[in-house]
Amino acid sequence: MEKLEQLYEGKAKRIYRTTEEDVVWVSYKDSATAFNGEKKAEIEGKGRLNNEISTILFELLKEKGIESHFVKRVSETEQLVKKVTIIPLEVVVRNIAAGSLSKRTGLPEGQILPKTILEYYFKNDDLGDPLINEDHIDILNIATKEQLEIISEQAFQINEVLTSYFAQKNVKLVDFKLEFGVDRDGQLLLADEISPDTCRLWDAETNEKLDKDVFRRELGSLTDAYETILKRLGGLSCTK
Ligand code: C5P
Repeated sequence: MEKLEQLYEGKAKRIYRTTEEDVVWVSYKDSATAFNGEKKAEIEGKGRLNNEISTILFELLKEKGIESHFVKRVSETEQLVKKVTIIPLEVVVRNIAAGSLSKRTGLPEGQILPKTILEYYFKNDDLGDPLINEDHIDILNIATKEQLEIISEQAFQINEVLTSYFAQKNVKLVDFKLEFGVDRDGQLLLADEISPDTCRLWDAETNEKLDKDVFRRELGSLTDAYETILKRLGGLSCTK
């Protein structure tokens, strides 16, 4: 399969057409952005780390019976994925209070939630990705009731798999964001990426932050944090 022209460039990835109609070529960039693109930096090695970590997590989910758009990793920074139309919804799963949940509700960062919760955000840069509910999703035709039912069921299943996997690696899965898409046959599929850019990951003993909060809050070296995660997941770490 060959990589053809670029179809799209997002904040963290570039998407290219391939010689196969149903497959696109994803290249993870070294760009880091936060606060809806207000804070930006180029961080050498970030693309490789997210590509490797996302590959490991999509392969784990597949082993556990959860399909995604992921096809295969093709290089240090690239992977092939099934072409899908992304549903403009950010699905956030939370186990422990942090980030915007703490800000919105006053729950202290680090407080274990009495139950895992789901939140939906409308993926829309102009509106700043607002928090929305199922009625909003319905009236805006973002997803059908059936799709939303599958999305929420899968989100909880993914949380079960990832929480126990990370726990074995001495990492707490605080919260994470998922995106879903629909392929040419109308099948709903987990899409985008699962990486320290999209998850909050804390060391299980020290609560050291090993995710994008290191960049958002300027807590140290982002690549050191992501490298720690990759090593704990058993991935190959690069000699710096
Ligand atoms: O900022 P907030 O607390 O709502 O983020 C919840 C989770 O969703 C975090 O793991 C964060 O990294 C992820 N997220 C994301 N992309 C966004 C917003 C949040 O990956 N646009």
